[in-house]
Amino acid sequence: MRIDIFCLFPDTFTSPLNHSIIKRARERGFVNVVIHDIRDYSHDKHHTVDDYPYGGGAGMVLKPEPIFEAVEATKQQLGANGIPVVLLTPQGRLFSQSVAQELALHSHIMLICGHYEGLDERVCEHLATDEISIGDYVLSGGEIAALVVIDAVVRLIPGVLGSPDSAEHDSHSNGLLEHPQYTRPPVYRDWSIPSVLLSGNHSEIAQWRRRQAILRTAKRRPDLLKKGNLCDEERKWMSENS
Ligand code: 6GU
Repeated sequence: MRIDIFCLFPDTFTSPLNHSIIKRARERGFVNVVIHDIRDYSHDKHHTVDDYPYGGGAGMVLKPEPIFEAVEATKQQLGANGIPVVLLTPQGRLFSQSVAQELALHSHIMLICGHYEGLDERVCEHLATDEISIGDYVLSGGEIAALVVIDAVVRLIPGVLGSPDSAEHDSHSNGLLEHPQYTRPPVYRDWSIPSVLLSGNHSEIAQWRRRQAILRTAKRRPDLLKKGNLCDEERKWMSENS
């Protein structure tokens, strides 16, 4: 997969892309992340990328020309047509595991990071093919949101995680939160791990985990549970145990 990022603060990406799973995925060739500085496409010697809003008001607005030219030059250079051009903006559709799965199906995506008070609406209308927000709060810019999207997408590329199981068992991939996990020691400060985990009975362990995931989701995120995925037996068990 190739990911092109168009932003004003390229340095934001240095450390996050050079650690852990994303670093390894890049080194092993699963993903190629290319960062473009929108400022390189400005037209004047001061490298202006923003301007005052028409109609007045506080803050500055990102100009359309540098963004259009950066994205179009890259598309042309690569012969890339019809690929997703995603604008990171608090006005976008809400990011989720299913949106990450959708993006992971593409071999090439482009991400545009907005900044300041906003960006010229013509970028949304005529350049971006999708607009994504990572949650209902305001960030100073799209860079951190882009990193969130990249992390969630890259771990879904087949081969990036050691075992294909890992991604499938993650919280949210089955619509539920993940069950509790324990490792050694079996007793720490008087706190023992659940005995079923020491039983060696794999079907009982699987059932315990599934039920813990359901209980935890019911308690912490009842909104997720409404979406379903429980069988009748599980619904009955839950009504008796919560
Ligand atoms: Cl994608 N950008 C900004 N600036 N703020 C956000 C966001 C994106 N998603 C949530 N808040």
